Formats: sequence, structure tokens, C-alpha cells
Amino acid sequence: MRILNASGCLDALAAPEVARQLDAFVTKTVTPLPREGSAPPRIAETAHGMLNAIGLANPGRERFLADHLPRLRELGIPLWVSVGGFCAADYAETSSLLSGIEAIELNLSCPNVDEAADSAAEIVSACRQATELPLYAKLSAAHPDVAEVARAVAAAGADGLSLINTLRATALDKQLRPVLARGSGGLSGPALKPVALHAISVCHEATGLPIVGMGGIETGRDALEFAACGARDIALGTVLFADPGAPARVRAELATACGDVGVATPDDARTLAKSPETQRKVPA
Ligand SMILES: Cc1cc2nc3c(=O)[nH]c(=O)nc-3n(C[C@H](O)[C@H](O)[C@H](O)COP(=O)(O)O)c2cc1C
Repeated sequence: MRILNASGCLDALAAPEVARQLDAFVTKTVTPLPREGSAPPRIAETAHGMLNAIGLANPGRERFLADHLPRLRELGIPLWVSVGGFCAADYAETSSLLSGIEAIELNLSCPNVDEAADSAAEIVSACRQATELPLYAKLSAAHPDVAEVARAVAAAGADGLSLINTLRATALDKQLRPVLARGSGGLSGPALKPVALHAISVCHEATGLPIVGMGGIETGRDALEFAACGARDIALGTVLFADPGAPARVRAELATACGDVGVATPDDARTLAKSPETQRKVPA
């Protein structure tokens, strides 16, 4: 199991020592044109997680390719570039300009921008024709049938899935006004974990594609639960804001968590969550 960061949750150029703990670094989503993002306040704490409405603030693909990507390469870590846009052609054009990276993650699920006009499968299909790099489709668990979307992007040529993005949510202040200027934002952190485990489980069963699991992972035990539901790799998001040492800590805890349930590696835990026989043997 490899440990990545969740897109948008780590600035590798500002914190290279955190990025170097990772097996691969995933960039913030890059869009064709620069974006300032949403007006402040765009972050709020809630009792069960964090709300953000960053709105895909990023330098745009031209500056990203000319300035950010070369500096990221100097870190010597495998790179994934998260690609966003507002129609299939946006995604495909950015994908066609990328090379010398490990994979592309297609952000098909940001809750803080208006939805892309084209469907997830259309976007993946356009990108498939534009690049030979591995394509990971990042999906939202907000879809009524995420397994159906997973099947559609698999048929369109996705090599893997990233699950899950934040869920649209609202927090109110004392005067009952929305805390975020945008009104709503994306909920991340511990509240997401059970939702993510379910989405991973059904998408793994539906497609068998490699999955990067994310959503509220804070400990090695959390990471092992993601593996048991079908995640091959995991990504750390919100936890990085509170604990920049989380990648190394989670990796160490993962080894202990494997020992606790009697498996040699996280890969051996895959599908344990499905076996009634094992469920009887392993204490809850
Ligand atoms: C501040 C912030 C910014 C984010 N920006 C992006 C982004 O640019 N692209 C993306 O695909 N996901 C973005 N996400 C979602 C995360 O990558 C991740 O899917 C989500 O937060 C769930 O993981 P977590 O609960 O461990 O944070 C962002 C999340 C946060 C908290």
C-alpha cells in the first residue's frame, strides 16, 4: 500500500519535508485558466470535520507547466497531477500537455465549482485519446449510484479510481448565517470515513480497478480498513493540516494494525471486510 496526499491538502513546495514522506505527491487541481477561488471565509471547522470552499484556486495550466511542475520535479518524488475543467476538452487538452509524471488524476467531483457540462465517462474518454499516462478518475460519493459511475469510467478507459472527494455541506454561525461566504462547501475529515469505505467497497466490486482510498483517514488502522474494502493505496487529506508527520506515522501504525488482525500486508486484508468467516474470527 502506498501513501499519497489527497489533492489540495498539501503544498509540496512550501512543505517539502512532508511531501518527501509520501510515496507519490498529488498536486492541487489544475484548471486551464488561473482561478482565484471563492471569496473568504472559505474554511470552517465543524464538530465532525472541516468544510472548505476553496473553489479550485490555482495558477492555471500555463504557469503550472512552466513554473510549478519543474520545481515539483526537483523534489524527486513521483508526481500525480490533478486535472480539472468545465468540459471534456478542458481535461483532454491539459492531459495532452503532461509528460514525465506517474499518473493523472481527473477531478470529476469538486463540490465547489459548477459541474462540468460533460459526463464523467465523456471526460475520461476524451482524456484517454489525449494521453497514454495512467488515468485515475476521482469520483464523488454524492452520486446515487457511484458504482454505476465507476463502471462507466472504467469502460471509458480509466486505469484506476480515486475515492472519495468531499461531500457538499453547510455550517451556520451563531446568528444562523452560513459560515462560508459561498454558503456551502466540501466536508472532509473523519465524518467521511464510513461513506468512503462503502463507496470503495462497491466500486471495487463493480470494476476491480486499482483504487486510491481517501476520506477521513487519520491512523494506520483507518488505512487498513480502506485496504479491507478494496483500496490498493491511500491518500491523506485533512489530517495533514493537524499533523504534518502523518504519512510516516500512518505507515508505522499500518504495520502494527496488520499484526493486530493477523495479516502480513495491507494487500492481504483486501476483501476481509466481505468474508463472514473472517468477520467472526476478527474482533470488532
Ligand atoms: C482544503 C482542501 C482542498 C481540496 N482541494 C482539492 C482539489 O483541488 N482537488 C481535489 O480533487 N480534491 C480536493 N480536496 C478533496 C481532498 O483531496 C479529499 O478528497 C477529501 O478532503 C477527503 O479526504 P480527507 O477527509 O482525508 O481530507 C480538497 C480538500 C480540502 C480539505
